[in-house]
Amino acid sequence: MFKWRDSFSVNIKSIDSQHKELFKTGNLLFEVVDIKDDVDRYDEIIEALQNLRDYAVYHFGYEEKLMKENGYPDFEKHKKQHDAFIKKISSIDEEDVDEKQQKIGMDLIIFIANWIENHILKTDMAYKDFLNQKGIY
Ligand SMILES: [Fe+2]
Ligand SMILES: [Fe+2]
Repeated sequence: MFKWRDSFSVNIKSIDSQHKELFKTGNLLFEVVDIKDDVDRYDEIIEALQNLRDYAVYHFGYEEKLMKENGYPDFEKHKKQHDAFIKKISSIDEEDVDEKQQKIGMDLIIFIANWIENHILKTDMAYKDFLNQKGIY
């Protein structure tokens, strides 16, 4: 299960609440994969995938705009990671989801866990002081 902690905060209110949405999607997937019955979970996994696509559009767009407007020096490196996320999510074929629900669900959970660990807690955290010093909270 994905649990938000205060230490995950980048001290910018709007961004923290966007990051929390990713935790929600992770938990949605977790519930789906965790139930060991034979009920079809196609719709839930597609919903989670759609959430991840929406997240990429509004959240990455939001962060990139803030970084750009404020002249954040590591913008390009940061954006590359966002692009890799988008590439990964778009590489998942919805027809595959039907046959391999459990596997794709698990795969996405691991992907989100790694993203939190390596992107939110490292790459995003790296702009925290920079943007805070620009008066963005
Ligand atoms: Fe982020
Ligand atoms: Fe980011």
